[in-house]
Amino acid sequence: MNSITILQPDDWHAHLRDGAALKRTVPDLARQFARAICMPNLVPPVKTVAEAEAYRARIMQHVPEGIAFDPRMVLYFTDQTSPDEVAKIKASEFVNAIKLYPAGATTNSDNGVSDISKVYAVIEQLEEHQVPLLLHGEVTHQHVDIFDREKRFLDEVLAPLLQRFPKLKMVLEHITTADAAEFVLAQNERVAATITPQHLLFNRNHMLVGGVKPHFYCLPILKRQSHQEKLIEVATSGNPKFFLGTDSAPHSKNAKENACGCAGCYSAPMAIELYAQAFDQAGKLDRLEGFASHFGADFYGLPRNTQTITLVKEDQQIPDAYDYLENESIIPLYAGQTIHWRKV
Ligand code: DOR
Ligand code: ZN
Repeated sequence: MNSITILQPDDWHAHLRDGAALKRTVPDLARQFARAICMPNLVPPVKTVAEAEAYRARIMQHVPEGIAFDPRMVLYFTDQTSPDEVAKIKASEFVNAIKLYPAGATTNSDNGVSDISKVYAVIEQLEEHQVPLLLHGEVTHQHVDIFDREKRFLDEVLAPLLQRFPKLKMVLEHITTADAAEFVLAQNERVAATITPQHLLFNRNHMLVGGVKPHFYCLPILKRQSHQEKLIEVATSGNPKFFLGTDSAPHSKNAKENACGCAGCYSAPMAIELYAQAFDQAGKLDRLEGFASHFGADFYGLPRNTQTITLVKEDQQIPDAYDYLENESIIPLYAGQTIHWRKV
C-alpha cells in the first residue's frame, strides 16, 4: 500500500501546557488531529469544570485559521476533589473525564492523589455517572524499580479498584508493558488503554545503548523489546480497547538535555505518520483507522469524525528542532531521522 485514506484521527492523550507554549503546541496538534484530550497537569492544575473551560478558551485562541479543532478537557484528580464535581463533568459540553496521577509519579503530579482509598467517594460517582477515569498507572514508592512500577500498579492498585468498582469506565493511559496489555484484555469493555508512538516504535535500547538519549525519556519509561512487541500486537489487532493517545509532552531542549532531564517526548507535529510507520512495519496498515479514528471516539461516546486525511508512503525527514517559547527550542521525537510516511 502506497497511500491510505482514513477518517480524521483524534488524540486521546496530549499535553499542550499553557501561556506562550500554546503558540507552538496548539497549531502542531490541530494540524494532525480533529480532537484531543488535553491533559490537566498545568501549574496549578486544572481542577474544576470552570477552570477547564477557561483553559479550553485559551487553547482555542491559538487554533490556526481554517482548521477545525475541538479540545476535549479533563480535570486533575486531587485528594480534595469533591464528589459533586463529577455531575458537573457529566453536564459539561467540553469536559469528558478526570485524570488520576499518583502523587509524585511524573511531571507536575505533586497535587495528585496520595492514596486511592481516600477518594472512593469520587470514584463511586464516576462509576455511577459513567465518567471515564484516566489513569497514570505507576506506583511511586521509592523502593520500587522504575521498570516495575506499571506492573506493580496493576497488581496492587488497579485489580483491587476494579473489584470494588466493577462498572468503572477507565482508560489506562500510555501502557508500556505486556502485563498492562494483558490486564486490559482480561477486563470488560469499559476498560481501555491508550498507546503512544514511542512505545510502539522504540524500546529501552534505543534510549540507553551507545549513550543516553534524553529525547526518548518519558514516563512510564520505555521497556524491553518483548513489551514493545506485545504493544504492537494489541494496537494492530483491531481490538477497540486499544486506541491512539500520543502523550506528546513538550519540554524545551534545555529542560531535556540536562543533568536532571524532564520526562516527555514531543511527537505532535508528525504523530499520525509515526503511527503509520509502526502499523506498516507490522504489516497492519489496514488496522490504523480503527485505532486512530474509531475506537477512542466510540469509547468516549462521541461521534466519529466525518472528514478524511490521506497518508502517502514517501520519505520525510523530521526536523532537528522547532522554535519554542522565547529563545528556546524543542526537539521532536526522532528528530533528524527519516520516516516513510507523510500526511498530505
Ligand atoms: O513523559 C511524560 N511526560 N509522562 C507523563 O506522564 C507526563 C508528561 C509531561 O507532562 O511532561
Ligand atoms: Zn501524559
